Amino acid sequence: MPPRVILIGPMGSGKSTIGKSLANKLSLQFRDTDSVIEEQEKKTVSQIFIEDGEDAFRLIEKSVLRQELLTDDTVLALGGGAPISIDAQSALRAIKSHVVYLDISLANVAPRIGFNRDRPLLLNNPRGQWQTLMEARRPIYESIADTVIDVNKRSQSEIVSQIMEVIS
Ligand code: S3P
Repeated sequence: MPPRVILIGPMGSGKSTIGKSLANKLSLQFRDTDSVIEEQEKKTVSQIFIEDGEDAFRLIEKSVLRQELLTDDTVLALGGGAPISIDAQSALRAIKSHVVYLDISLANVAPRIGFNRDRPLLLNNPRGQWQTLMEARRPIYESIADTVIDVNKRSQSEIVSQIMEVIS
């Protein structure tokens, strides 16, 4: 069995928070590609971007994603860019896991991004950069997802309950 649930979506959509809570409810292990990368490389995501560059980060992310897609019965949160490569898209379309896209608007994500978070892609003009990335990525997120959850103005417990319902 692959991961039970895979959470995808942009930076600030709540993948880690929702994923931890969902894993707890389902008594499954929570995994997060960014945390695995940081443990493996012994550097933060920002350090990797600054010291080695984005291409190096994407290569590490690709191999971590490949590993994590082989873990049984986990709730797996993917970094916002992890599902975007062609290889990742095909792997995620083929996998038996339930792929859930957490969809959030710029207005609702704005207060969550840009402040002292480890997000190297949003260093200058966080809103503008988030929006540019989202315009390019939204069709990909939508095309991979088995379920799209609108997380705007909804509480964590409402979102988790909705995911529990759709995967049951
Ligand atoms: C990225 C999202 C980040 C992290 C890296 C790049 C992206 O993860 O992987 O900064 O390309 O959208 P979160 O979505 O968990 O913030």
